[in-house]
Amino acid sequence: MKILGLSVLLVVSVSASDFDVPPAPAPEAPVWVAVDHADLAKAGLPAFPISGVPEITDGRTAVFKVRPDMLPVLSQFMHDNFKRCGGYFAHSTKAAAQASMRPTVVVAAGPYTLDQQAVVTPLVAAVTESGIRATIDKLAAFNNRYYQSETGVTASNWILARWSELAAKIPGASVELFAHASWKQPSVILTIPGSEFPDEIVVLGGHLDSISGWGNSGARAPGADDNASGIAVLTEAARVIAESGVRPKRTIQFMGYAAEEVGLRGSQEIAAKYSTGGKKVIGVIQFDMSNFKGTGAGIYFLTDFVDPTLSAFTAKLATQYSGVTAFTTKCGYACSDHASWTKKGFPSAMAFEATFDDSNKAIHSERDTLATSGGDASHSIPFAKLSVAFALELAKTAPAAVKVTSR
Ligand code: BES
Ligand code: ZN
Repeated sequence: MKILGLSVLLVVSVSASDFDVPPAPAPEAPVWVAVDHADLAKAGLPAFPISGVPEITDGRTAVFKVRPDMLPVLSQFMHDNFKRCGGYFAHSTKAAAQASMRPTVVVAAGPYTLDQQAVVTPLVAAVTESGIRATIDKLAAFNNRYYQSETGVTASNWILARWSELAAKIPGASVELFAHASWKQPSVILTIPGSEFPDEIVVLGGHLDSISGWGNSGARAPGADDNASGIAVLTEAARVIAESGVRPKRTIQFMGYAAEEVGLRGSQEIAAKYSTGGKKVIGVIQFDMSNFKGTGAGIYFLTDFVDPTLSAFTAKLATQYSGVTAFTTKCGYACSDHASWTKKGFPSAMAFEATFDDSNKAIHSERDTLATSGGDASHSIPFAKLSVAFALELAKTAPAAVKVTSR
């Protein structure tokens, strides 16, 4: 069967064995792609490049089993027809694709309060441009951070080591790899346990992988903006919090996601695991591209595939703490990992560098260097400030330990 028309909701997922050493990847393992029936019904488009009968279908979605080497072909098709590269979800097992079709329990967003100024204001002042730039320089120096390449794995391990240095300054904090069964590159998670409500989790994330063209393990893909900048923002926020001595009441987790560029695969596995594990994630923020001055000063909050209540509150935090104005924009499709959390019913927001139209056009090429973003990390400073504020206003802070001196 040939399918005409679409806008794909490509679903691909994997069974994750969490917090282990990554197993040997199975690069030829098939993926399960879920296509929206409404999109299939759209007439007048060239042939959708998947043939065959769907393995699963309901009123809304049809799931096809495809070879992983078809994903770049689908991406090309999306680009040609919809002016975007992917905009799909991908799953590595049929069961995961099926699970993703089931309605999820939606976590109510908030109420969120802004009341930590006494602690957060001095902390945001400690954010530095050089701190952010150092991480971008380091990550962009890997040949690429492709999810199937050796350097993609080395990059994850570099983040593991850097975040471990920071965690060592925080009592009880730890850093772990989150292994993915179907590919080599692990995700990385830094956990700062909450002192009062450790089961309630605040997630700050960004993808650590990069890609050039339609995916090639050897291609040069510095990904300085997409998305070394997001990982740099998270790392700078974690540094400031670690060095401050401030401790959260709720648990804070910083996440570097693997395999975003090939269908939000790393974040989908993590969000699925948190959902089935009944984890109480009270808010998620995504940083994906923060360093390109396409529109000018400002933080641009996406309005699609996000939680509106959390996004409005996060814009308030930006106004209070980042030093720049909060604006809105939209991708028009599930363009980054915030969508994985939204799909699983968790409240999620996404802070972006510019309007969608003014964003960095050098991404996914060897031209996505720091030089293309102006040679410094200044545009990312407000994002790191927002990151500190988001972590501590959502998690709230424990009162500073009182020093008792006896005489
Ligand atoms: N950082 C981009 C998303 C993006 C690009 C947002 C330009 C805003 C402007 C992300 O890493 C990416 O490339 N996403 C893919 C979708 C994914 C599901 C493969 C895309 O946009 O095609
Ligand atoms: Zn990205």
